[in-house]
Amino acid sequence: MSTFQTRRCTDPRCRLRFPVAAESALGDRCPHCGAATEAIDLAYATEGAGALGDRAPGPALEVLLDNVRSLQNVGAILRSADGVGVRQVHVGGFTPTPDHPKMAKTALGAEAVIPWTRHREGLEAAEELRARGLRLWALEGGAGSSSLFEAPAIDPGEEIALIVGHEVSGVDPRIVDLCDAVVRIPMLGIKGSLNVAVAFGIAAYAIRFGLRAPAIGG
Ligand SMILES: C[S@@+](CC[C@H](N)C(=O)[O-])C[C@H]1O[C@@H](n2cnc3c(N)ncnc32)[C@H](O)[C@@H]1O
Repeated sequence: MSTFQTRRCTDPRCRLRFPVAAESALGDRCPHCGAATEAIDLAYATEGAGALGDRAPGPALEVLLDNVRSLQNVGAILRSADGVGVRQVHVGGFTPTPDHPKMAKTALGAEAVIPWTRHREGLEAAEELRARGLRLWALEGGAGSSSLFEAPAIDPGEEIALIVGHEVSGVDPRIVDLCDAVVRIPMLGIKGSLNVAVAFGIAAYAIRFGLRAPAIGG
């Protein structure tokens, strides 16, 4: 558990309000204008959302990262994968592996606990997952995709392999062809896609927790 304190800049033209670790001298000066600061609240603790007994009602989930280029994206995905209880991560092509020396910077320890396998050829990894009986879901947009939030019900006992693609070119079309479903996260603005790690987090939680739009009316 970590303890923090809220401080405020004393310069009336600034008044920046910001948190610092309790007892840290770093908050003595305003990070924006350099003026002196004052504590405006008692110290408070943050505990995170872990160890509260939460359980996912949804299916077992594995993930195939096929040619995801960025170390930061893979690290963020591993952290989310740990949070949502992914059973195994498979890295294909040039995706950096969890044991990369700089992975801990964004995975923050998740890289050391998630079981993983590495495959030079992502297509073969997808075929292996299918041969093990997992249903393959490509996380991708395009005309052949359906909204993740209107995806067909998942039968009890069904296991899903979610396949995530390269930051620019997306999931390899030959892998998409192998998939049982292609699911998209609806995009309502000007952009056609999300950051890959953000997209993975949304989809993984939706699959494991069965997220749907709240019912309206009554
Ligand atoms: C930034 S997207 C890449 C390119 C995307 N195919 C395009 O044409 O813009 C990288 C990866 O993130 C995931 N992704 C990002 N946004 C998504 C969305 N709205 N729906 C489904 N997958 C998405 C997919 O796995 C995709 O392969």
